[in-house]
Amino acid sequence: MKGSVETKHFRLAHISDLHFSQLSWNPKQFLSKRWIGNANLLLRRMREIQHDKVYRLLDHFKKEEVNYVLISGDLSTTSLPIEFAKASEFLTKLKSMGVEVITLPGNHDHYTKKDYLNKTFYQYFDASFGSQDCLFAQYNLKDHKLAVKKLDLDWWMIALDTAIATPLLSCHGNFTSEIASNLRKVLNQLPEDSKVLLANHFPLFTSDHLHKHLIGDAALRDLLHEFPKVKFYLHGHTHRHCIADLRNAGLPILLDSGCTAHEEKGTWNLLDFSETTCSVKPYRWSSIDHGAWDWNEKNPTSFEFS
Ligand SMILES: [Fe+2]
Repeated sequence: MKGSVETKHFRLAHISDLHFSQLSWNPKQFLSKRWIGNANLLLRRMREIQHDKVYRLLDHFKKEEVNYVLISGDLSTTSLPIEFAKASEFLTKLKSMGVEVITLPGNHDHYTKKDYLNKTFYQYFDASFGSQDCLFAQYNLKDHKLAVKKLDLDWWMIALDTAIATPLLSCHGNFTSEIASNLRKVLNQLPEDSKVLLANHFPLFTSDHLHKHLIGDAALRDLLHEFPKVKFYLHGHTHRHCIADLRNAGLPILLDSGCTAHEEKGTWNLLDFSETTCSVKPYRWSSIDHGAWDWNEKNPTSFEFS
């Protein structure tokens, strides 16, 4: 199922916020933010998040002939090694099907200061996705907070790591001037006719409380105004599915996959790309009978690019 330059189209599944979890009774957690995450897990998340539906994606991806899967952050709940191991077990299954997987961290994946400084996430997940001869092979998420992957046709993926360890009740990200400078360099170097998917954990706009937003989001929007070659901005974090075409406002099409592992409101998007089009099928978990991934056949959204 690997993509190739000869293909006339390719498919990418965008999933997010899988929140693999493990309750921890380690007394040391009371010295870190992790006890808040555990309390939250006990009271709410264990009920809301279910991973059997995440595993049921595998057959679906096979049926839909998916070439790439993007997981836009929050693979874990409190950055515990066992949570990362559970998530990477799922990735191993995906890769064994011949699917190429692109991951980037969310705030739950740099949960404590120690995990952020030790970059624990990158002990389990790749920091770069391009081949060695790729023009942008020098960039990786771990050191540069940005990685570049050539997809098929003229489409490219740029993944960002804007997640940071935050105080007890916050979960914001930071689009720093260093990330902005790297992103600008890459966008300038990409061929003029390239079409870019920019992936990040945090949304481009925040309607939530300020403690959940992306610091520097205005600078990111300013940068995107300069580079119309960025066609899509894909993210998670909000747990709310959304498709918003902002091209009339000089910004990309926003795709929020929602929380794929959510018990009742699990969602994700299947993107089918050709040279000049992309159609987006929004999938939703349906609880009828034993439950299934379903989409409204009347409702694929198609975008054209000149
Ligand atoms: Fe998040």
